[in-house]
Amino acid sequence: MPYRTIIEPFRIHSVQAIRYPTPEERLAALEAAGYNLFGLHADDVIIDLLTDSGTGAMSSKQWAGMMDGDESYAGSKSYYRFRDTIKELTGFAEIIPTHQGRAAERILFAVTVHAGDVVPNNTHFDTTRANVEYQHAEARDLVIAEGHDPSSLHPFKGNMDVAALEATFDDVDRDRIPLAMMTVTNNSGGGQPVSMANLRAVSELCRNRGIPFFLDACRFAENAWFIKLREPGYEDRTPREIAREMFSLADGCTMSAKKDGLANIGGFIGLNDRDLARDCRNLLILTEGFPTYGGLAGYDLEAIAQGLDEVLDEEYLRYRVRSTAYLAEKVLAAGVPIIQPPGGHAVYLDAAALLPHIPPHEYPGQALAAELYLDGGVRGVEMGSVMFATRHEDGTETPAPMELVRLAVPRRTYTQSHIDYVAEVMIDVAQRAEHLRGFRIVEQAPWLRHFTCRFEPIADP
Ligand code: F0G
Repeated sequence: MPYRTIIEPFRIHSVQAIRYPTPEERLAALEAAGYNLFGLHADDVIIDLLTDSGTGAMSSKQWAGMMDGDESYAGSKSYYRFRDTIKELTGFAEIIPTHQGRAAERILFAVTVHAGDVVPNNTHFDTTRANVEYQHAEARDLVIAEGHDPSSLHPFKGNMDVAALEATFDDVDRDRIPLAMMTVTNNSGGGQPVSMANLRAVSELCRNRGIPFFLDACRFAENAWFIKLREPGYEDRTPREIAREMFSLADGCTMSAKKDGLANIGGFIGLNDRDLARDCRNLLILTEGFPTYGGLAGYDLEAIAQGLDEVLDEEYLRYRVRSTAYLAEKVLAAGVPIIQPPGGHAVYLDAAALLPHIPPHEYPGQALAAELYLDGGVRGVEMGSVMFATRHEDGTETPAPMELVRLAVPRRTYTQSHIDYVAEVMIDVAQRAEHLRGFRIVEQAPWLRHFTCRFEPIADP
């Protein structure tokens, strides 16, 4: 395109109305939800940036594919379209549909991970960590040091610390490491990409040690786009070629099609190991469904097959990454601290930097997320000590490495003026930062507590 402005590469074909709850309604809704934004009715949210997972708009071609979905229990045409699309993209021999990403994790780990094992990853996503820990194994995060520094401008802050991975391989018995994983992009670490060089180094190390290497591939297309933009030698390669190369370095993957599958639900496991695939399918039948639908409707399989094709379109990826950066630039210009450079799917506000008067055990990210909602009806998600603190038996907690609020941008859903509005709300809240107060947790679950815990605001001293 000859002009500088990168436009949305689509026309809007169908719309959903947004409701505008009043400030009083928002306060009442938040109190009723125990100050947990997951507990809100979505109708009480004006701009919903809770997640980019399953919340995007599907294309007319995806909807058309859904009309043509084959709902046969076994061997449906839609399954074969799904399987062949993914085989062609990933090169994996065995494709196992699941109802979403965590179901893929659950099945893969139930089959491969045992008590006392160690699973390295750049940074485990919350469900990935919980599914490893549910097997009584250790989920070990080994992202490079720059990945913990919100202001570092390293182009691939999602990279694995290869020396630390090697040290783990040296220190832990080979049969206690069932697999190593890399999350692309690194969601819990700010949506930061991983370079091809780093993927190659991890892949080689794993192969030398005989340890299977898996991608958590949720945002593989956004990662491929960052490689094209930032890694020398990839400028002239297509996103599809780059994605293929990424998958070719791995022995398998787990995938949530709710992200770069551009679908509202779905996921899969991709594998080369036939015996492992057989064991996964046996478990799949127990919990998800027959291996040709894996907990999905035939029409979901169609939507995913089409989505995986559209997501690699260069105009789409250019717009996608640019629209996230646009929000980041606006708030940065106003002095709001964020993780830099911005990630592919989300802007991560640095609550620790913005609210130095709120200590980690009073959850600064939660304070900021609650205020963004009260102020402007914007829903983000805390990604700090509520989500990632290490909880000890005596009730104390070791804080998470960073205190963040993630504003995840659903794919193809909001326009530039929606994003302008979000920036205005963020800047307004940041200007009143010293008045924000922390929270205490009054009810929580044994794992993944952030989804359901209830909070109480801490009153002024
Ligand atoms: N891995 C990563 C990196 C993820 O971001 C997610 C989900 C999953 C696995 C699990 O997939 O939701 O389909 O079961 N992330 C969403 C988010 C929920 O908001 O970032 P799922």
